Amino acid sequence: MKLLYPTSLILDVARLEGFSVELQPYDVKAPEIPAEHHDADILITWTNSPDNLKYARANLPNLRWIQSLAAGPNDVLSAGFDTSRVVVTTGSGLHDRTVAEHALGLLLNAARRFYEMRDFQLQGKWPGHLGGPQPDRPKDRFTTLRDARVLVWGFGNIAKCLAPSLTLLGAEVRGVARSPGVRDGIQVYAEDSLPKLLPHTDALVMILPGSESTKNVLNAERLRLLPKHAWVVNVGRGTSIDEDALVDALEAGEIGGAALDVFQTEPLPEGSRLWKAPNVIVSPHAAGGRPQDAEDLIQYNLRRFLANQPLKNII
Ligand SMILES: NC(=O)c1ccc[n+]([C@@H]2O[C@H](COP(=O)([O-])OP(=O)(O)OC[C@H]3O[C@@H](n4cnc5c(N)ncnc54)[C@H](OP(=O)(O)O)[C@@H]3O)[C@@H](O)[C@H]2O)c1
Repeated sequence: MKLLYPTSLILDVARLEGFSVELQPYDVKAPEIPAEHHDADILITWTNSPDNLKYARANLPNLRWIQSLAAGPNDVLSAGFDTSRVVVTTGSGLHDRTVAEHALGLLLNAARRFYEMRDFQLQGKWPGHLGGPQPDRPKDRFTTLRDARVLVWGFGNIAKCLAPSLTLLGAEVRGVARSPGVRDGIQVYAEDSLPKLLPHTDALVMILPGSESTKNVLNAERLRLLPKHAWVVNVGRGTSIDEDALVDALEAGEIGGAALDVFQTEPLPEGSRLWKAPNVIVSPHAAGGRPQDAEDLIQYNLRRFLANQPLKNII
């Protein structure tokens, strides 16, 4: 049995040895995979080029399992693998800490307005209105996480990692997912509760996967339900927000601001209205990008694959 692992990150391959599986590196950006590896059974993917994945789909007939190290392996799915024959597993869990930290950073940036201070600094101006005596926790502005009502839409692994930090800073955290219930001590609601939840939200954190069911789910109608001071933070996938509706809401002052790490089109096109919309923080898909402890997941799934047991993180 042969496993191809990517050279686009540093993997401790020694930790994958001892499974009677031949381990071979491959270049994820090369348009072709060398002929001597066309007999591969397992492919680990990370930042592969679209051509490389399409080539793998067409030329690796023995392939039975793809372990993506991305939490949302839209690239693998777009390459058109026959998922009835090839099991695809995600890297969900490998990005929890990095994306949670980034989301926390964006929330603090929004509340403490570091982005605006920097704008003034670049003009050599003192942003006096942001310093000195300030009202404590005004109801009509998002200025702190203490007592802030934070709604996390997409309450999976990343959200579970983020929630304790928010709670520690005094936020009141609620979640939205496909099924309701209490998860890690946080009340999680189904989407049909959004009309009740959104009007009582100071910060909406989106951590949804990119899929048909999440396309443009934050639309004009739902944006209108948010209080005027509410911030939107997105570290999931850009496709979950109707960007035109978001810019309309920002320009009309219907919401407080938006801190976005992901966009409908990346890189964000030069002509996008988001660049100039008020109170927008553009982060260049920088939240994740560095899978942590990938060897643990590969090893765990490899053991199960060889034993014909169901794998973790199947799509
Ligand atoms: N910005 C970055 O650099 C970066 C890095 C890593 C990941 N991401 C993105 O973050 C996403 C989430 O990652 P994760 O590891 O937390 O994934 P996860 O553990 O699979 O969690 C996804 C959550 O979204 C919910 N969900 C899925 N479809 C939904 C829908 N139609 N309506 C409402 N909720 C829905 C799921 O609900 P249930 O639990 O009820 O099924 C689950 O709670 C990834 O898919 C990826 O696109 C971004």
